[in-house]
Amino acid sequence: MDAFDFDTPINRERTASLKWERYRGRDIIPLWVADMDFKAPPPVINALQKRLDHGVFGYTVPPDSLVEVVLEMLKVKYAWEVEPTSLVWLPGVVSGLNLACRSVGDIGDDVMTLTPVYPPFLAVPGLSGRKLSPVRLARDERQYWQIDMDRLTHAVIRQTSLFLLCNPHNPTGRIFSRRDLTDIAMFCEQNDMVICSDEIHCDLLLDQDKAHIPIATLSPEIARRTITLMAPSKTYNIPGLSCSLAIIENHDLRSRFKQCMKGFSPDVNLLGYVAAKAAYRDCSQWHTALIDYLVGNRALVEDMVRTTSGLEVNHVEATYLAWLDVRGLPVESSALFFEDAGVGLSDGKDFGEPGYLRLNFGCPRSTLARALDRMATALESMPL
Ligand SMILES: Cc1ncc(COP(=O)(O)O)c(C=O)c1O
Repeated sequence: MDAFDFDTPINRERTASLKWERYRGRDIIPLWVADMDFKAPPPVINALQKRLDHGVFGYTVPPDSLVEVVLEMLKVKYAWEVEPTSLVWLPGVVSGLNLACRSVGDIGDDVMTLTPVYPPFLAVPGLSGRKLSPVRLARDERQYWQIDMDRLTHAVIRQTSLFLLCNPHNPTGRIFSRRDLTDIAMFCEQNDMVICSDEIHCDLLLDQDKAHIPIATLSPEIARRTITLMAPSKTYNIPGLSCSLAIIENHDLRSRFKQCMKGFSPDVNLLGYVAAKAAYRDCSQWHTALIDYLVGNRALVEDMVRTTSGLEVNHVEATYLAWLDVRGLPVESSALFFEDAGVGLSDGKDFGEPGYLRLNFGCPRSTLARALDRMATALESMPL
């Protein structure tokens, strides 16, 4: 066994897990919502244990030591030097998306985003009295999802005040390049739009020859119009501990954002802070092993799709999410078809793109192999 065990399945039934409760009592392997079926890294569990032993769980403030760890991480990874006051702690990245919509522009403004996309991106503008302006990504000849700048230019109107970016991109698994990000940044500058960049998947890069570039690091001018959202939750598998952060260097933008939080956004749970610090500071070996394991799981998914008719997938550069093209299947609902075959996937229509399914491969390889086998068997019985 490797130093870290990602192979042994952990029973998550009856643990109030969102992922596993959906199919309670049914023989359906849940590969939908984006959490992994792995234990958190040992340093995170140890830090939490130590804090539990202290036994007093009063109101809390962001620990200075965590702020230092985050600032150092941004400096080392991205050469991004940020003032401590630029960090705003949040109970969730989705809260950050909502707060960005509420704090930028006016009621009735357009909020632009690229689709398909993680479903809350489609909902948050409406929840804040804004209008969603969805612009479809285009697929190139390699089946990669690309930003089509012409489509963006045609969709923008005078009242488009905010651009919601997801990078690395859920659900397509793209890591946007410096060129892509520069195009978006210039577009937002020309049209005087604020950028809210959800970078929650930035530590889940599976292609080692690619790098994550926070869009705010392109230039000081872009930093001034950007709200960056990050969290240790996806990478270190601690989303239930609810600790995320916004990095907002522009004082006015940050004040408006914080004003919208007042009396409304709860403080981060103290255990979330403890876990975040250990995750960012003490888990590099675990992280390397995780990426290695996910690369193996990605290969399993991509191989299965290559050898099975009726399915296609673009190469997953980052995240543990594969975006399956199931438009070739002669069924009314491919999500229900695979549920009947014993695998629970996320329906592309919730991401603004019917005809696709999202598969979460953040699970023990044996579980993934069993799910893929069920899917292949179901497809074999289909006249394609
Ligand atoms: C792109 C993206 N943003 C945000 C979230 C959720 O963040 P949080 O749980 O911190 O609200 C997810 C979860 O899958 C995600 O994929």
